[in-house]
Amino acid sequence: MAARILLVLAVMISYLSSCLITGQNLTRHVVKEKGSEIRGPFIGDANKSSGRTTGGSPIKAASDGYTHVAGYQSKGADGVTAWHGVRAKMSVWKINDVQPLSESSAYIAAISNSDGLEYVAAGVHVYPRMHNNSDLRFFTYWKTTKDGTMKGCYNDYCPGFVIANGSNLLPGQALAPLSDYGGEMRYITIRIKKDEKTGDWSLYREDQGGPIGGMTLLGWWPQSLFKSLSERANVIQWTGEVNYQDNETGPSMGSGHFSDEHEGKAASFSELYGFDGLGLIYNNYYGAIPFVDKPECYNISPWYGSSVKKSQYFFYGGPSGCSH
Ligand SMILES: *[C@@H]1O[C@H](CO)[C@@H](O)[C@H](O)[C@H]1NC(C)=O
Ligand SMILES: *[C@@H]1O[C@H](CO)[C@@H](O)[C@H](O)[C@H]1NC(C)=O
Ligand SMILES: *[C@@H]1O[C@H](CO)[C@@H](O)[C@H](O)[C@H]1NC(C)=O
Ligand SMILES: *[C@@H]1O[C@H](CO)[C@@H](O)[C@H](O)[C@H]1NC(C)=O
Ligand SMILES: *[C@@H]1O[C@H](CO)[C@@H](O)[C@H](O)[C@H]1NC(C)=O
Repeated sequence: MAARILLVLAVMISYLSSCLITGQNLTRHVVKEKGSEIRGPFIGDANKSSGRTTGGSPIKAASDGYTHVAGYQSKGADGVTAWHGVRAKMSVWKINDVQPLSESSAYIAAISNSDGLEYVAAGVHVYPRMHNNSDLRFFTYWKTTKDGTMKGCYNDYCPGFVIANGSNLLPGQALAPLSDYGGEMRYITIRIKKDEKTGDWSLYREDQGGPIGGMTLLGWWPQSLFKSLSERANVIQWTGEVNYQDNETGPSMGSGHFSDEHEGKAASFSELYGFDGLGLIYNNYYGAIPFVDKPECYNISPWYGSSVKKSQYFFYGGPSGCSH
């Protein structure tokens, strides 16, 4: 009996460790973010992105390009929740059809748009223009309007995001292994959460355990970087996004398959949480609304979930070849 239990345990442990994603070696960036040449994640009135314009996007593309998004955002069930955090378990995929000036990404974000647009975001992307290859890489991003100027950047391209000692996933680091279509799924779970003591916006990774309640602190964006976001976010967002130029076609988003293929085949955001300033965790329905501007190319599933803990999730994505 004991041997049997041990065997089951051993199988479980080897199964669990095979599901873990370990970061690959970090490639240092040599390309710096030059003015507007590299654009940040799309944040804004996503339904109005409508292809050619970048809508509420804080950074304009170098030339006219196309941005398409598929995701959910929440202002809370009452529309006025002061958010102090957002979290998701994201499936991660190889995306090998991203043309030289295109990008395909998936990220979570905490946003304040009540007094200028400010946000912090973290997720994964394939972005050849930034990394010179088609690896799926972890990224962080922040944007502020404090002091009347719009500032911010990816990763360590400018001072801002502070990397924690003990971080096990650095901005710009490639992820592997990745999910197999119809086969084994791979995920990373990340959390952006306002530190109630320091006021900073902290970034945690949860899927490899760690000393802070089973999480590892990856770093933080100091509270002092921000104006209204220093107090709270009023929108939290889970987003799939692609960008591409006039002479390119759209890359795959997510797994490269539409959301209706569901588990194991379509990309997902799951175990979705929001955190408010009272320390409450929202892990059931909290007024999330979909945004998708080009459903014939990239679509999104309904928001699934009940009041059962950790059950909130949705699927998103689409294949490459989208033309404008
Ligand atoms: C990481 O770097 C080590 C030491 O340079 C090397 O042996 C290993 O192959 C690298 N791993 C990857 C995935 O590039
Ligand atoms: C990308 O590749 C080009 C051509 O090989 C090279 O000139 C450039 O320095 C590379 N950039 C980076 C960031 O590695
Ligand atoms: C990391 O640890 C070193 C040595 O203890 C310390 O000097 C440094 O400030 C720490 N960095 C951060 C970001 O906490
Ligand atoms: C596409 O257009 C960009 C400018 O937007 C240019 O730099 C690039 O070389 C073009 N690519 C091709 C394949 O023509
Ligand atoms: C986007 O449009 C859809 C369909 O019209 C609507 O249900 C949804 O609430 C809109 N989302 C946002 C963020 O306005």
